[in-house]
Amino acid sequence: MIAARNFVAPARQCLRTTRVSPRIASPFSQLRTYSVAADERVAKFKGQKDTDGKYTVTLIEGDGIGPEISQSVKDIFAAANAPVKWEPVDVTPILKDGKTAIPDEAIKSVQKNYVALKGPLATPVGKGHVSLNLTLRRTFNLFANVRPCRSVAGYKTPYDNVDTVLIRENTEGEYSGIEHVVVDGVVQSIKLITKEASERVLRFAFQYARSINKKKVRVVHKATIMKMSDGLFLNLARDIAKEFPDVEFDAELLDNSCLKIVTDPTPYNDKVLVMPNLYGDILSDMCAGLIGGLGLTPSGNIGDECSIFEAVHGSAPDIAGKGLANPTALLLSSIMMLQHMGLTEHAARIQKATFDTLAEGNALTGDLGGSAKTHEYAEAIMKRL
Ligand SMILES: NC(=O)c1ccc[n+]([C@@H]2O[C@H](COP(=O)([O-])OP(=O)(O)OC[C@H]3O[C@@H](n4cnc5c(N)ncnc54)[C@H](O)[C@@H]3O)[C@@H](O)[C@H]2O)c1
Repeated sequence: MIAARNFVAPARQCLRTTRVSPRIASPFSQLRTYSVAADERVAKFKGQKDTDGKYTVTLIEGDGIGPEISQSVKDIFAAANAPVKWEPVDVTPILKDGKTAIPDEAIKSVQKNYVALKGPLATPVGKGHVSLNLTLRRTFNLFANVRPCRSVAGYKTPYDNVDTVLIRENTEGEYSGIEHVVVDGVVQSIKLITKEASERVLRFAFQYARSINKKKVRVVHKATIMKMSDGLFLNLARDIAKEFPDVEFDAELLDNSCLKIVTDPTPYNDKVLVMPNLYGDILSDMCAGLIGGLGLTPSGNIGDECSIFEAVHGSAPDIAGKGLANPTALLLSSIMMLQHMGLTEHAARIQKATFDTLAEGNALTGDLGGSAKTHEYAEAIMKRL
């Protein structure tokens, strides 16, 4: 199921030491072919309603607080009459040929339904498993990670009106896992950037910007230093921008973006930021910090065939089973999922009820300074539906 991609040629190119300016096309830009027409949506949801008028969605409840926060989402969806049936699957990892793998039943369920909602998964330490989250991304080739961060009225942070959207390339870059020892005391880690993966995430970013009516896309990069790898990403972005004349395009150096966002995030509210893997990982957590942390941050892992929506936080073993968990991040992820599925009216209703409950502040969980139990917070949202 792991997409067969030929890493050999690009990796060899990365090892070349030739200096090229970011404006000069890399050898790959000569080979440019667009596999997806500009008007053909990347990662369009392919699911169909069943005969009962409902979509089936794979549910990975996850570990620790996962089952508690999943229950809240299920209850709220039922109260909102969202046309969704849940298909719970177990993703306890198995070893296949010495490699961590997802059980076949779970893979089949996501492939059949094209969409899944996922609670946090604890990574077993010292048992030879790689992160299950990474395994899921690789298994389903989830190439884009979408992270919106929006201020929550009722939860005071240094900035009141943060509304950033960041899209991170999710499959390669610095996290390609190609590392080796050159000689004792010298290790090398290869940052892999391919035209195929870059074009896919960049085109998705432009289409996403259009779909949420933030018609400005900004590439965040370090092409001044990583002239070939980030240079390729940047050059491809400039080319793809021409397919979207209604979307403004510009680029910014990563260090400059960090400085400016923490100084004043407001100028970023009308933009979608898109960037290679490592930069997106760090910058998205930084933006989450601006709105009150990972407990309030949703995300979507988008693939060509399937997409998996998940809270950004972990399994919180310290509070698991105590009814203390805040389900907001998973709930906001499920709202992103409804939007992806085209169920925009249900998404809007649940979103309004959630933000109104948070703004009123009478039923907040402990992490937000309240004393409500998980189910009490969920019930307060349901009363507003
Ligand atoms: N996407 C994922 O599935 C994911 C992400 C991060 C960590 N993990 C895994 O989760 C496990 C625990 O990781 P960790 O402790 O570093 O991070 P964590 O996010 O689970 O917990 C960090 C702190 O935040 C609190 N917290 C997290 N989510 C909360 C919520 N919804 N409501 C209230 N409080 C919440 C926890 O109680 C804890 O104090 C590890 O096994 C890790 O590998 C999974």
